[in-house]
Amino acid sequence: MYHASVLLHESVDYLGVTPGGVYVDATFGGGGHTRLILEKLAGKGRLFAFDQDMDAQENAAAQEFAGDPAFAFVHSNFRFLKRQLRAEGLRAGSVQGILADLGVSSHQLDTADRGFSYRFQADLDMRMNQQEGATAADILNTYNVGELQRVFSELGEVRNSKTLAQAVLRFREQKPFQSTGDLVELCGNNLMGERMRYLSQVFQALRMEVNDELGALHDFLKDAYEMLAPGGRLAIITFHSLEDRMVKNFIKAGNIEGVQQKDFYGNITRPWELVTKKPVEPSEEELKINNRARSSKLRVAEKRSEK
Ligand SMILES: C[S@@+](CC[C@H](N)C(=O)[O-])C[C@H]1O[C@@H](n2cnc3c(N)ncnc32)[C@H](O)[C@@H]1O
Repeated sequence: MYHASVLLHESVDYLGVTPGGVYVDATFGGGGHTRLILEKLAGKGRLFAFDQDMDAQENAAAQEFAGDPAFAFVHSNFRFLKRQLRAEGLRAGSVQGILADLGVSSHQLDTADRGFSYRFQADLDMRMNQQEGATAADILNTYNVGELQRVFSELGEVRNSKTLAQAVLRFREQKPFQSTGDLVELCGNNLMGERMRYLSQVFQALRMEVNDELGALHDFLKDAYEMLAPGGRLAIITFHSLEDRMVKNFIKAGNIEGVQQKDFYGNITRPWELVTKKPVEPSEEELKINNRARSSKLRVAEKRSEK
């Protein structure tokens, strides 16, 4: 299976899909959320499905949906949402719903040669878009200690981030980082706590840096607000506390810092109506069958008519 969708019914139900509307699935992956949205559209309206990974465009679901007149695949980073939708002829304020299910797909994690997983020996790549950008090996071979420490500590919450950053520099004096095995070896010599957890944290931190996942989310949130129609809904599934905080702040205050803005009269402006007061988490049933759902959180908000 390409990917088991997380919080599938919860997120699509909250999107409130109506036939004839225009929707975006910003993270197509295995197409699980797209399938449900297309069913609800019943051939009427449009669904633009974004993914920056060519494997997603070529997978079975994308081929299957290609015959649906409502479906359009956009091979792009979702940080360019506005630019891409405008190229498709859409105006700002004309989209009824946007969904994003962040992070990597099971396909990406389980495909050995993508380098996302410490379970397989492969080139240390980790790019979701294999056509551009620096790889995880490039980052380990070029960042200075301070930059590496930031990556490990902020993105991976690695407790001995400074020690690990210094160890990276010593390692690459001997030989450049090339493979997942090199990183596993480095981690093995600097372990703190449980081995698998440590490896997951370090690999996740590098993956998020390689793909500038926080930067992309920041740009996407701003574009999503502009492209949504008043009353349009934004549904976002996150897997990382920093991402969840960004989404929470953005729908509370209209900016990722969460700083409340005031209008000319001193009234606090509220660009969004919260649809989910608290984040929705997966049910016990879902967790039993899909371990990868365990850190997921869904937040949904509706764009208000005026700021
Ligand atoms: C968790 S999977 C989505 C799974 C999908 N919802 C499903 O049900 O099958 C995330 C997907 O989003 C893509 N992705 C992640 N960040 C992206 C970005 N900034 N721009 C475009 N695609 C992105 C990944 O390549 C991956 O295929």
